[in-house]
Amino acid sequence: MKKILINGGKKLSGTIKIGGAKNSIVAILPATVLTNKKCKIYNVPNISDVKKLNEMLTFLGAKIEYKDEYIIVDNNSINNKEITKEFSSSIRASYYFMGALLSRYHRAEISYPGGCVIGSRPIDLHLKGFEKLGAKVEVKDNKYIITADELHGADIFLDIASVGATVNLIFASVLAKGITHIWNAAKEPEIVNVVTFLNSMGARIYGAGTDAITIEGVSELGNGTVEVIPDRIEAGTYLMMGILLGENLIIDGIIKEHLEAVITKLRETGATFEIEGSKITVSKALKLNAVNVKTSVYPGFPTDLGQPMSTVLTQCEGESLFEETIYEDRMRHIKHLNSMGANISLYNSTALIRGKTKLKGTTVVATDLRAGAAMLVAGMIASGTTEITNIEHILRGYENIVDKLTNVGAKIKLVDE
Ligand code: EPZ
Repeated sequence: MKKILINGGKKLSGTIKIGGAKNSIVAILPATVLTNKKCKIYNVPNISDVKKLNEMLTFLGAKIEYKDEYIIVDNNSINNKEITKEFSSSIRASYYFMGALLSRYHRAEISYPGGCVIGSRPIDLHLKGFEKLGAKVEVKDNKYIITADELHGADIFLDIASVGATVNLIFASVLAKGITHIWNAAKEPEIVNVVTFLNSMGARIYGAGTDAITIEGVSELGNGTVEVIPDRIEAGTYLMMGILLGENLIIDGIIKEHLEAVITKLRETGATFEIEGSKITVSKALKLNAVNVKTSVYPGFPTDLGQPMSTVLTQCEGESLFEETIYEDRMRHIKHLNSMGANISLYNSTALIRGKTKLKGTTVVATDLRAGAAMLVAGMIASGTTEITNIEHILRGYENIVDKLTNVGAKIKLVDE
C-alpha cells in the first residue's frame, strides 16, 4: 500500500496539463468489443482504471498496441468469456462489458461490479433496459448471466438519468434489430464522447448530450477512431487548488462548457480566473465568500466535484451549505476534514460548513476517489504535513498527480506505507 505526504501551503504556479477523461475512457475501452475491426484511441489518460480495463480486454483476447499519441485495440480474435470477480469487483465500469458482450455475442456473464463505496449503486436500470431489448437476466452465484436470442429496438424510460445505464443501453441496442429510444437519458459530455466513437464505427446514434437518445440498430460496426475529451473533474480539482494557492497557475486542456456550473459557482465565492481557449489562469483569491452548493446531473454541479468543493468551502467566510443529491453515502470525507480543523456539521447528505478555518496537517484516509481529492486539496492548504492513506483510490482517476503538482511547486510525494 502507498500513501501521499504533502507539506502544505506552497504556492502553485506554472502549467498543469489535463489528461483524457476517466469517465469517457472507461466506457470507450469496453466499446471496442462491439467491433472486430481495429480501433484507434487518442489522449488515453495514464490512470490505473485504464490499466485494469486493458487487462480485461487482453483477458478476452484483445491485442493492444501502445503508441506515443494513441493506442490501437484489435478485438478481431476475442472470445466471449465470463468476466470474473477478480476483474469485475475492482472497477465500477466493468459493467460496460455487459452491454458490449451482450450486443456482440447475445450473452454476457459477469460478476458484480465494484467501484467506490459511495452508496448502494444498484444497476437495476441497466438490467431492466436489457430486458426491454429482449434479453433475459439471471443472477446466480453473485454474477449476472444475460442472454438473448435476438436483441430488438425498444422504448426505454430511465427512472434516473443514469450515466452508466445510458451508456450500457446504447451498447446493447447499437446492433439490435430496429430503433431504440432512451428517454430521460444522462447528458454528460462523456456520453457524447463515447457516442462519437461509436458513430465513427458506423453506428447510427442521435441526440447524445440531450435527454432523448435514438439508436438505429445496424448489422455490424467497422474501424473506430476517437480522441478522449479532457477530464473536467481533474480540471475542476486543480482549479479549486488554484483559487486557494495559485499564482498565475495555468490549467491547460479544458472545454469551458463542460465546467460552466463549477466556474460559475467558484466565481460566486469571489474567485476570479482568466479563460482563454482551452486554458484557465487562476490565482489565489484574496477573500472567499460562503456559498451554497447542491450537486445534480449534468449540466448541474457535478457530484464528482462535490467532495473537493467541500474543502474549498472550509476556506469561505461564513456558513456554506453543501448538499450531495446523487449518492446516498458520499460524505465520508467530512470527518477527515474536521480532523484537520474544519468546522462542519453533517445532516445525512447535507453539510453545514462554517468558514474560514485553518486546516492542520494530520493523517487522513482517502475513503473513495473523490474523497481522496478532497483530502489532496486540504493537504495542499493545511499547515504542516498531511499524510493520506488508501491513495490507490486517487490513482484511479488522477493521472501522474504527484508529478503534475510537484511541477507547479507543491511539496508532495508518494511513499510506501
Ligand atoms: C458514473 O457513475 C461515474 N462513473 C461516476 O463517477 C459519476 O459520479 C456518476 O456517473 C454520476 O455522474 C463512471 O462513469 C465509471 P449513475 P454511474 O448510474 O454510472 C443510481 C467518479 O468519481 N442508479 O449516473 O455509476 C446510482 O445509485 C465516479 O469518477 C440506480 O439507482 O452513476 C446513483 O445514486 C463516481 N440504478 C445515481 O443513480 C441504476 O441502475 C447516479 O448513478 C443506476 C444508477
